[in-house]
Amino acid sequence: MHGALLLAVSFSFLAQNIALCGEVTQGGSCSTADDHIDPASHKFLSDCDDTTFCSPSSAGSSNGTCQPRTCRRDEFPFGYNKSPSLPPLCSRGSFCPDEGSGCKPLLAPGQACQLNRDDQCAPPPDWHELASNQNFNGSLCLRSTCTYANASLGQTCIVDDVTYIDIGPTGQQYSNTITRDNCQTPKLYCDRSSTQCIPTKALGEVCDADRECQTYSCGTSGTCASPPSMPFHVSAWQFVVTAFSVVAAMATIIMMLVILHKRLRLQRYREIREYYEEQMRLRRSMAALHAAAAERYEDVK
Ligand SMILES: *[C@@H]1O[C@H](CO)[C@@H](O)[C@H](O)[C@H]1NC(C)=O
Ligand SMILES: *[C@@H]1O[C@H](CO)[C@@H](O)[C@H](O)[C@H]1NC(C)=O
Ligand SMILES: *[C@@H]1O[C@H](CO)[C@@H](O)[C@H](O)[C@H]1NC(C)=O
Repeated sequence: MHGALLLAVSFSFLAQNIALCGEVTQGGSCSTADDHIDPASHKFLSDCDDTTFCSPSSAGSSNGTCQPRTCRRDEFPFGYNKSPSLPPLCSRGSFCPDEGSGCKPLLAPGQACQLNRDDQCAPPPDWHELASNQNFNGSLCLRSTCTYANASLGQTCIVDDVTYIDIGPTGQQYSNTITRDNCQTPKLYCDRSSTQCIPTKALGEVCDADRECQTYSCGTSGTCASPPSMPFHVSAWQFVVTAFSVVAAMATIIMMLVILHKRLRLQRYREIREYYEEQMRLRRSMAALHAAAAERYEDVK
């Protein structure tokens, strides 16, 4: 349901990024005090441009210089124009922070993480039970703190709302709120009023948000729907009707061809018979002519 909106929001990140990202290039002076998250788009911003980060000149000082980034998070990071020397990706067990200041080891629960960076948090020991498409290996970054998605039925849970604001071409604001919680997904979700984990809803039940549904898709009619990526299910009777139609069409074509062939054969048979009869008539009249001539010859003799 939110797919199109999210896409629109991410496109606008790009557009805003051009206007909002730092202008200072490598070697220029900057202040780490200016490192911040854009309040509307929640993108990380600093004085430095997209290929550098603000490195403090000495510990405890906020003044520093823009240094080339030493790690990247994306396969194709923004701001690098076909650069041959992209900073490396981080190995497993480490992560690249938003500013790109170097790989850091994964964070334990309770430690501070960056917005929408579940991948900065270390997986729980029972990660294969907790992992789902709504967390990263069973870990979450909720309210800027690493958490495990391990709250079970009836336990108190944390709800985190993040509102992304986008300015449309006409200056109109569009907002999209992403709500996440630390309940065990997709079986449970965090009920906002009781802040307790409760079971997710089955297909057709009334819902307010995608996370309330087992299918993680709250349809436009306000009830849990099948996810858009779900393959279309063809029922048995549709298979039977389709197969029957195909067979019937084939049988009809064959019958029409057989009838056509029979008619052509009949036509040909008639032609041959007419020819034969004509030949026979000719033969008979020639024989008769011959006989008459012979008779007259006998008479003359
Ligand atoms: C940082 O730089 C500003 C201006 O460039 C200066 O006023 C300030 O004292 C500096 N601060 C530190 C801690 O060096
Ligand atoms: C999840 O964590 C385990 C254990 O650290 C690791 O082996 C596995 O590759 C991780 N899976 C993903 C998708 O990161
Ligand atoms: C979830 O993980 C945290 C951190 O390890 C732990 O303190 C808590 O007891 C766990 N909760 C459940 C229900 O397992």
